[in-house]
This record gives sequence, C-alpha cells and structure tokens, in this order.
Amino acid sequence: MTTQLGDLLDEARRRTFVGRRRELASFDDALEGRSSRRVLLVHGPGGIGKTTLLLELRTRGRDVGRAVVLLDAREIDPSPEGFEHAVLAALGEPPSGPVAGRLAGAVLLVDGYEQLGPIDGWLRQAFLPALPADALVVLAGRDAPASPWRTDPGWRSLVAVRRLDHFDEAESDELLALAGVAPPVRAHLVRLGRGHPLAMALLADVAVTGTVPDSLAEVPDLVSALLETLLRGAPSDAHMSGLAACATAWLTTEDLLRKVVGADAPAVWGLAGTAAVHRQRAPRALAPRPGQGRAGRRVRAPLAGAVPVAAPGRPRPRGRRPARRHRPRPPAPGPAPALPAP
Ligand SMILES: Nc1ncnc2c1ncn2[C@@H]1O[C@H](COP(=O)(O)OP(=O)(O)O)[C@@H](O)[C@H]1O
Ligand SMILES: [Mg+2]
Repeated sequence: MTTQLGDLLDEARRRTFVGRRRELASFDDALEGRSSRRVLLVHGPGGIGKTTLLLELRTRGRDVGRAVVLLDAREIDPSPEGFEHAVLAALGEPPSGPVAGRLAGAVLLVDGYEQLGPIDGWLRQAFLPALPADALVVLAGRDAPASPWRTDPGWRSLVAVRRLDHFDEAESDELLALAGVAPPVRAHLVRLGRGHPLAMALLADVAVTGTVPDSLAEVPDLVSALLETLLRGAPSDAHMSGLAACATAWLTTEDLLRKVVGADAPAVWGLAGTAAVHRQRAPRALAPRPGQGRAGRRVRAPLAGAVPVAAPGRPRPRGRRPARRHRPRPPAPGPAPALPAP
C-alpha cells in the first residue's frame, strides 16, 4: 500500500509525543475493554495539547483496527443536524439517514468541543445514548464539562474527565530534546516556557534556528502567537478585550476589568482564570515603587512580558483567581480608576 504524507506526519507526531500517561491509559483501557468508561472528556486552555492528544488517540484507535472519526467542532454547525452531517461526511456516507448505528465499534473524537455548547445537552441526552455500546467517544474542549456529566449517576459511571495540565520539568525537557534542542540550553528554556506545551514548542523552534532568547521579551512574535492562541475562541469582543487587558496589565482585578468590559466582567474574569493567564515578573523599571499607591500598581507592562502560562505546581497569583471575594459587587464609589488600554 502506498504510504501517504499523512502517515509520515502521524509517525513524526508519534515520535515527538510527550507525557499524558493518565489520558492515554484511560483511552487504552476503554479501547481494550478493560474499563466501563465510554466517554472521555478532556479539557484545558489553548495550547495545552488537546489537538496533539487527539491525534495520538486517532493513531492508537487505528492501530487496533477501529474506524476513527475525528471532527473539529469549529467547522461544524452547532446543531443536531450539523453534527450528524459532519459525522456522516467523515465516514464517507451520504448526508442523511441514521447515524448512530454507523458508529458501531468506532472511535469518535471531537476537538474544539467548547464550540458545541448549544448541543451539549442534545449530545448527552439523545445522540450519545443511541450509540452502540462498543463505541468510544472523546470530547476535547477548553471548558470543564457541564455539571450533568459529573452528577448524573448514569454518566458518572461511563465518563472519565481529564484536565490537561502543564508539563513537569522532565516532560518539558523531553519535548525540547525531541525537538532537537541541545542539552545546555534546555534547562534555560524549561524555565522560560514554564511547562506550557505550545510555549515550549515555540521556544524550541526559536532555539534550533539559532537564537536562544534570554527572556520572552526578546521574542515578541512568540508572545503574539501565544496570545493569539489564548484569545482565539473568546466568545465576544468584551471577552477579547478583557482577556487582552488581563494579559498585558501588570495587575488586574475584577473591579478594574469592569471598567474595560462593563457588565461582562465576571464572565471574562472567570475565563481569564480558566485560561490560566498570568504574568511574568514585570521588568524592574515597570514594577511598582514604594509610595506609588494604586495607580503605580496598574502600570502596564510590555506585551512581551506577558505569557498565557501558569508555572507548574504554583497557584495562580492571588489577584487572578476568580475567587468568591471577587464575585460581582457594586462598583466602588468615587472616580473610576483608568486601566491602560491593552
Ligand atoms: N503531548 C505532547 N507532546 C509533544 N508536544 C506537544 C504535546 N502537546 C502539545 N504539544 C505541543 O504544543 C503545541 C500546541 O498543542 P495543541 O495540541 O495544538 O494545543 P491545543 O489543541 O490544546 O490548543 C503542539 O503543536 C505541540 O508542538
Ligand atoms: Mg487545538
């Protein structure tokens, strides 16, 4: 049989795949009938490795002879008909007729699941229950699954929820090594990338082409790519400008965010938390100085100082967590503090 370019791509991806042991084990157990789980719900922010994981799962499913359907929800109309059409098209079937039975023994992988919020209930209550019991489904999206997936006693026994985390230092080092980065440089890049897979991959690319940046401020293109990934898929303009403000301001609170996005502040604040936006240390020249007061603490840092990553094993900075004490409350009286434009 002729080898296709896609086969070479899959082989190369396989060779460079790092970590995700728990997720792979859950999938393999379900695939081989060692577990009762039939639906895996994978979630995590942009650039954390959802698509990469799904591509590895596709290869594993094919390796054991299963039919595999991989859908990108960003290309699907979020309606029951749109979803069923997409499944049929991926199976090479005419765009009408019953769908469920065609997925007997198949693996259905859905990327960008956050786009399918409007049919999340339909999938849970109608589409998935109609599938043959030997089908295996993986839904990967940015948001944690809606509560019925976790609370319904039926689904609880069939679902495994996996949040994708940042790589630890050993996994980060392995990613860089597999990308061809020389050992002396790797420890430095592991510190810069902080375990965010996309950040690590971009740093590896920069390093193997010759330049090893001392800090992220030296690679603004890389920071732009990270920010774009973070902001892509923001549900509204308010989310977009609010997230951009979070990513570029030295210090953001929910009250300050309200000055930028108004009533959408609680929603944007929550998204910033799940997107794991946090700042690097600000350059010394921009750090607040004693006696500067609140205005000093809102000094804007350069875009190049911001990166959508959270250090592995460290909590997000206190000001960023959408904690209870930040829940909506009336704006403070007095003049509105100005947040610098993103
Ligand atoms: N498990 C992994 N092994 C190796 N590299 C990875 C892994 N996960 C992510 N990456 C790197 O990070 C990049 C971004 O990951 P991606 O899967 O596109 O994230 P997401 O789909 O969550 O936005 C990938 O192109 C790849 O370079
Ligand atoms: Mg993706």
